[in-house]
Amino acid sequence: MKKKTLFAMAAFALAVLFLNSCGNCNENGKTECEKAQQCEKSMSALDCIMTRKSVRSYTDQPVEDEKIEKILRAGMAAPSAVNKQPWKFVVIKNREVLNKLAEANRGTRMAAQAPLAIAVCGDTTKAIEGEGREFWVQDASAATENILLAAHSLGLGAVWTGIYPIKERTAEIGKILELPDYQIVLCVIPIGYPAENPEVKDKWNTDNIKYIN
Ligand SMILES: Cc1cc2nc3c(=O)[nH]c(=O)nc-3n(C[C@H](O)[C@H](O)[C@H](O)COP(=O)(O)O)c2cc1C
Repeated sequence: MKKKTLFAMAAFALAVLFLNSCGNCNENGKTECEKAQQCEKSMSALDCIMTRKSVRSYTDQPVEDEKIEKILRAGMAAPSAVNKQPWKFVVIKNREVLNKLAEANRGTRMAAQAPLAIAVCGDTTKAIEGEGREFWVQDASAATENILLAAHSLGLGAVWTGIYPIKERTAEIGKILELPDYQIVLCVIPIGYPAENPEVKDKWNTDNIKYIN
């Protein structure tokens, strides 16, 4: 084969490789979202929201501390009523405690397999006084969604497992986490590198909209 032809073929192969890579890594054959997750190149906020799904099965790979901090920062970036930030985030890596959480609540059973869980709690000493006290639930929920989205954007899988307002469950999980009475567990979020890739659910439903024009 002529030198020129060989050169042209090599240039073409390189161009294809370049176009298929996402800049920071050479992961080919993946969607833009997967590529973005793989190499931490950030995906758009809308892509992140629209491709998040509950992931309930994880590999053994530990979650890096840098990623945990990014996730916590995302949680704390959430809006809260009167900017009270009435929350506490419990970061659980201890295998024994993860197993206890899984045993205590069937909905949280995937914690037994997860390398990490974050319990999002309301701190009622920081909540608005009087009628607005229960806004802590919305504040902690906003933080929870931010955590789920941050985990997804970092290539991790996570799931919201509901604790509050189920009384018995809230008391038991609070006891396992050794929390004072004024800190209430809204949810436990098991997090890890995904060992499953469930479909994103299409939830668009115009019946759920009322327009006032
Ligand atoms: C308040 C709340 C409580 C939830 N509790 C659990 C739970 O205990 N266990 C679980 O596996 N998933 C739980 N989920 C996750 C939902 O099952 C999941 O979000 C829903 O099926 C939609 O799927 P998606 O997250 O993949 O879009 C909970 C979600 C919310 C918002």
